[in-house]
Amino acid sequence: MIVLGIETSCDETAAGIVSCDAPGEGRILSDVIRGQVEEHRAFGGVVPEIAARAHVEVVDTVVQAAMQDAGLTFADLDLVAATAGPGLIGGLLVGLTTGKAVASAARLPFRAINHLEAHALTARLTDGVDFPYLLLLVSGGHSQFILVEGVSRYRRWGTTIDDALGEAFDKTAKLLGLGYPGGPEVERRAATGDATRFAFPRPLADRPDLAFSFAGLKTAVRLAALQTDPLDDQAIADICASFQAAIADILAIKSARALARFRDETGSDTPALVAAGGVASNTAVRAALERTAREAGGRLVVPPPRLCTDNGVMIAWAGAERAMAGLDDDPGLTARPRWPLDADAAPLVGHGRLGVKV
Ligand code: KG4
Ligand code: ZN
Repeated sequence: MIVLGIETSCDETAAGIVSCDAPGEGRILSDVIRGQVEEHRAFGGVVPEIAARAHVEVVDTVVQAAMQDAGLTFADLDLVAATAGPGLIGGLLVGLTTGKAVASAARLPFRAINHLEAHALTARLTDGVDFPYLLLLVSGGHSQFILVEGVSRYRRWGTTIDDALGEAFDKTAKLLGLGYPGGPEVERRAATGDATRFAFPRPLADRPDLAFSFAGLKTAVRLAALQTDPLDDQAIADICASFQAAIADILAIKSARALARFRDETGSDTPALVAAGGVASNTAVRAALERTAREAGGRLVVPPPRLCTDNGVMIAWAGAERAMAGLDDDPGLTARPRWPLDADAAPLVGHGRLGVKV
């Protein structure tokens, strides 16, 4: 089965093609990603309207490039898939409409994909990970633990009650006057910093659940920056290193707890912890997760950075996995800004800029 996947939920316009021979077995035929960092840089974050417009302008050429790279025509495809949510509504509509149009013109089946499910299943394509496994998704929009039991079988064990982790990196970078996107810049500065200079909090670390909270940490960083004089390059490096150390600690503590629960519930002595999302490419974060997984008798799996962040390949792959599993979508499925993977998970009362976080 050959599948085209289209991703436009945030600030990446992406199209990828995979071929899938059996459940959990696939090959990447093409992978085209057009970012929008330049369009958003002046604003220090993604501006939804600018993102939507940028998607409209390039989505057709991105899809075309993916077809060309794979050396295929639409007639060679078996399925078209596009992200339907969660994400920014303008961008979602662009990708979804494009995918449905291609499917309709080429008389192909179409599948609307949950972006989180695509992140969740990527490690099966890249590393052949078997079900069940534990997913830690840490991106600009999400910070969640998800038990992945099978295709379409997800249980959310914990999520953030305020900011997403990538958002915390971006906001920290912004208030320190560093560039956008903030995560890589904070990591770069942290490399020459003293992680013990500032004692930042580890929010919710002492709570027995798997919830995250990063708003308080962000405030602590702001106070440290205000109270440090001079706020020179070394001070900024020290703040970045101390912030990153706090994050690594929080993730290690919560992951150890999640892995213990995984062992209890699945009976597995060799749990696979899969990390995905932009923050998973942070070296300090990876080292902390690697250590934690090893101590739990398991292993850490992190797809390569290009497939860890937003891409079209993961959407194509999720489409293939769903098709292989015989799951049919409602073809009328429309764009959904909020779309939790686990419909049974209790809604959270935490608030973000856009309202209640799910
Ligand atoms: O998964 P992603 O590319 O996009 C979505 O949000 O879906 O994640 C982007 C986020 C941004 O907040 C960015 O600052 C963060 O991931 N990020 C990092 C690093 N690289 C990207 N955070 C910490 N360290 C990094 N090296
Ligand atoms: Zn994503």
